[in-house]
Amino acid sequence: MMTMLRIGLVGLGRLGKIHAEILSGQISNVDLVAVCTLDDKEKSWAVSKLGLSATCCFSDFEKMLDEAKLDAVVLASPSSYHFNQTYLALSLGIHVFCEKPLAVKEEKIQNLFDILNTNSGLVCQVGFMRRFDPVYMKAKEKIVNGDIGEIILFRGYSLDPISEIHNFLKFLPSSSGQFLDMAVHDIDMANWLIDAFPKTIYSCCNSFSFREFEEFGEGDNVTSLMQYENGSMAFIMAGRTAQHGYHIETEIIGTKGTIRIGSVPSPHQLEILDGSGVRRECYTDFADRFYLAFQNELVAFIKNIHEDEAPKCGIHEAYKATLIALKATESLKEKTLIKL
Ligand SMILES: NC(=O)c1ccc[n+]([C@@H]2O[C@H](COP(=O)([O-])OP(=O)(O)OC[C@H]3O[C@@H](n4cnc5c(N)ncnc54)[C@H](O)[C@@H]3O)[C@@H](O)[C@H]2O)c1
Repeated sequence: MMTMLRIGLVGLGRLGKIHAEILSGQISNVDLVAVCTLDDKEKSWAVSKLGLSATCCFSDFEKMLDEAKLDAVVLASPSSYHFNQTYLALSLGIHVFCEKPLAVKEEKIQNLFDILNTNSGLVCQVGFMRRFDPVYMKAKEKIVNGDIGEIILFRGYSLDPISEIHNFLKFLPSSSGQFLDMAVHDIDMANWLIDAFPKTIYSCCNSFSFREFEEFGEGDNVTSLMQYENGSMAFIMAGRTAQHGYHIETEIIGTKGTIRIGSVPSPHQLEILDGSGVRRECYTDFADRFYLAFQNELVAFIKNIHEDEAPKCGIHEAYKATLIALKATESLKEKTLIKL
């Protein structure tokens, strides 16, 4: 019989609550035994909704690691904490699932590799959940099968709804920029589907509606063009001003065919015919679009720990995506082509 894994969850914000819900009831052989958040209302939520006792709700990450006897942690804390929290947990022999991005600046990533090399049973997975979304998995299968030939261009859009812009503007100063916070998913998808590493990258941006972004050397919409070592190209765009909803769209153009994902960002086939014409409703946010992928990635994390397997999306993959996102940001700020 499989042992129950004792899990601690860090962060109970927008995404932390989704992970909490999944970990406490939807996956077998795990026990969510502790949470860590700075917010008292979120602690009360953990007591009432997750059934945790108040003594299992921590404000201090290190105290939680010291006291809760954890096998694994899930990190949904703000991005600037990810690298240090991952390092600390791994160095104590605790498995880590860390939300993206792995880091917000160039860090001593070698330290993580060293820990994992000397403790081969430790699992460290990073939250690129699109790799666990059935549609993206199907696309990968077809590409590996040679169905669309050689990849000419990967095109990825990640657009947040403008209805959320005021929440986002509060978060803007600590957001680490659109490439690390948002486009890093498209960067990881391009790396995964093209299966190579870029050699050049050039970014540009503009603030069309919200000049607040300019103070941080950013725009409310940003783009990057990359060329990979194997000649494939990737064009990515991230923005915060989509009028219609949460829009994640990907196109992979190959020498023998093209794959498109999400060009109409709608969760269902329902069409509404009214005074405005014919329309379909759109996804509203990341939870609406990717809930199944969030479930699948945590199921895989727990399975990898139980079965002593390497994760499909570990720190090698996360490091590459982080580095490229940092270089994309550098290109934006320096207004220059970067060679990797
Ligand atoms: N995979 C995705 O699509 C996706 C979607 C949303 C967010 N995220 C990532 O998840 C992370 C959290 O994002 P969010 O939108 O849920 O944030 P949020 O601001 O809603 O929540 C942050 C949480 O972290 C806690 N916290 C803050 N500082 C802490 C500290 N020092 N130690 C422990 N806890 C601390 C806060 O109390 C809060 O519970 C971010 O890194 C973000 O990039 C990923």
